[in-house]
Amino acid sequence: MLDQMLYSLAKPVLFALNPEQAHDVTLHNLARVSRSPFLNTQVARWYADRIKPLPTQCMGLEFRHPVGLAAGLDKEAAAFNALSALGFSAVEMGTVTPKPQPGNEKPRLFRLVEDKALINRMGFNSGGLDAFLQNAQTIDDASRARAVVGINVGKNAVTDMADAHYDYATALQRVYAKADYVTVNISSPNTKSLRELQNANYLDDFLSHLKRVREKCEQVHERTVPLALKVAPDLSADDIETISELVLSHRFDAVIATNTTIERPTDLKSSHASEAGGLSGQPLTERSTQVIAEFYQHLKGQVSIIGVGGISTAQDAWDKLVAGADFLQVYSMFIYQGPLLVREIVSGLHQRVAQAGVSSLGEAVDLARAR
Ligand code: FNR
Repeated sequence: MLDQMLYSLAKPVLFALNPEQAHDVTLHNLARVSRSPFLNTQVARWYADRIKPLPTQCMGLEFRHPVGLAAGLDKEAAAFNALSALGFSAVEMGTVTPKPQPGNEKPRLFRLVEDKALINRMGFNSGGLDAFLQNAQTIDDASRARAVVGINVGKNAVTDMADAHYDYATALQRVYAKADYVTVNISSPNTKSLRELQNANYLDDFLSHLKRVREKCEQVHERTVPLALKVAPDLSADDIETISELVLSHRFDAVIATNTTIERPTDLKSSHASEAGGLSGQPLTERSTQVIAEFYQHLKGQVSIIGVGGISTAQDAWDKLVAGADFLQVYSMFIYQGPLLVREIVSGLHQRVAQAGVSSLGEAVDLARAR
């Protein structure tokens, strides 16, 4: 199968490069494909068009199937069309900050091959909102019909914590017209103090400020764009309860659980295990599922949950759905397994639906949750 062969040929070449070079080469090529409607159609014929739809609802939006791309791969909105052609039913671009910034010093991205994991301390490197919005103009209608447009926003490293909400507000206002949903990222471990925004004393005012900004945007654009809050896996049960209460009271539309972890499981084998930054991939699978389950206990379906963290099989995906997720995202295992990962997960979920003897994923998940 050519689709399988393509990634097995590309992977050794990419893995021979250092991880950030491999990322840059991949993204450069995806951006080139993105600018060519002809190439997008060809890529979609091999990938997106071969995925049997499995309609999924989340945040009031419709997705072709439940597997999207998590934030961080396409930070500058350069490759949306190609990523949708590879089969993702949503592509979350960003994190974008208002102003351009270089991010942390290199090296800042590490492969933990033995652990099927990555550690990154990129630090929101990007060309900022101007470059992002210019690139986003290349997003075409055919790709938008394939995938939902998610835009993930953050704060610049130089912005004081006391002014953090201004950065998020600026970003929200400027990306609003382009986005199907916007993610407020307060959980990256690589921007100093950012995760303190998850503390109740900040979060209450912060969320209410953003809700007011969204209300203004709704009036200007005559359209409601759902807001999602992206959280860390390193939260205590009390933190999860408090964040849930605030998300409910400020009527955010979704929680994205989870970002990368600063924990280091003791059984990591790779020599890079002690690098600073956020750990993602397989070592995060269980913890992120547990965080989803805890949020679901409090949110009870009133606020959507997007599940992300170490998904590499249909079973991982199913576990997160049954724990309470409405939609899923992948990143690290896409790097290890390539674009066929999306089709494999979706086809495994089709099997779960068939086994349950029902006609939709929602019904199959409801049955499993009731058990
Ligand atoms: C990320 N992630 C991330 N998340 C985010 O909200 N904004 C970002 O800019 C980034 N950047 C980023 C870079 C790299 C190199 C990685 C590996 C990850 C986190 C990502 O979206 C996801 O939440 C975690 O990686 C967990 O999912 P996986 O990778 O285990 O499937």
